[in-house]
Amino acid sequence: MTLIHFAAPALWDDYRDTLPRALHDAGIAAEISTEAPDPAAVDYIIYAPSAPLQDFTPFTRTKAVLSLWAGVERIVGNPTLTQPLCRMVDPWLTEGMVEWVVGHTLRQHLGMDRHIVNPGHVWDPTCPPLARERPVALLGLGALGLTAARALQALNFPVMAWSRSPKAIPGLPTDHGPEGLTRILSKAEIVVTLLPRTPDTENILNARTLALLPKGAAILNPGRGALIDDDALLAALNSGQIGQATLDVFRTEPLPRDHPYWAHPRVTVTPHIAADTRPLSASRVIAENIRRGEAGEPFLNLVDRQRGY
Ligand code: NDP
Ligand code: OXD
Repeated sequence: MTLIHFAAPALWDDYRDTLPRALHDAGIAAEISTEAPDPAAVDYIIYAPSAPLQDFTPFTRTKAVLSLWAGVERIVGNPTLTQPLCRMVDPWLTEGMVEWVVGHTLRQHLGMDRHIVNPGHVWDPTCPPLARERPVALLGLGALGLTAARALQALNFPVMAWSRSPKAIPGLPTDHGPEGLTRILSKAEIVVTLLPRTPDTENILNARTLALLPKGAAILNPGRGALIDDDALLAALNSGQIGQATLDVFRTEPLPRDHPYWAHPRVTVTPHIAADTRPLSASRVIAENIRRGEAGEPFLNLVDRQRGY
């Protein structure tokens, strides 16, 4: 019998039905404990940032810590974590992210706001360009970035994608590294950030990089708040260098009520809802990883502790 410690008790109600069913379907006979079990008996830990568990030292038999979150910046540097860490790559989470990115990209591209809020009843028949004339930069070309890039390409947006390592992806122009970022930003009218938070990505959008963009470009950040230097973004919005920012993630969440983003006329705040982990599909991902662990097969979605994602 495999002992699983579901270490995020606040989320248990969401997984109470789906996780046992997914484990059963994967052929795993498991006991799931939400209480603190004998750590030396635990085979797998299911973790979320809300988990009270911080010291992984006593979990001497644990084969893997399975994160319910895609972003692992709050656990990856934990010095007590010596067990393999797997992050969440959930097909329905990815679907949610694609919907958020496509929806907000189209809003910017079509200039929807000026028709939705038009108190002066102004008849301005200026037509937006076609998507094929609106270059989009996707920063981050992982599970979420690549799928979002493909969805935007399907609408004819010329997408350029940027990552840490070089990539050759059929039909998708890519670039990498600091010089690649300069090349990509200098052409992009809409920028989507789907990077993890690491020491290398912190403040990647700052006064210098925001100034590379064509005047009036829009920023969509569903990645992590720390990717953006907030003061630099506010200054760029106020100068007109950046036309609009739609932000889903923040350095402090919930975003404090007096934060200037709330009141800024050209900022839209969404409350970290771009893409939720969906219990039904996520339970299947977790169960598959436990099946792999029990069969001695390599885990999926292993985090590289050195890279931090
Ligand atoms: P992945 O780990 O699959 O992809 C990360 C991408 O970022 C990779 O392409 C990687 O490059 C690139 N990257 C990392 N560091 C750098 C760097 N220094 N310079 C350039 N590129 C870099 O992550 P996901 O796509 O699954 O998720 C991305 C992020 O989205 C998560 O880390 C999380 O922060 C956020 N997220 C937000 C949610 C929300 O609701 N708002 C929901 C889920 C996730 P390379 O390919 O070369 O390794
Ligand atoms: C995640 C998130 O990382 O929801 O999964 O942000």
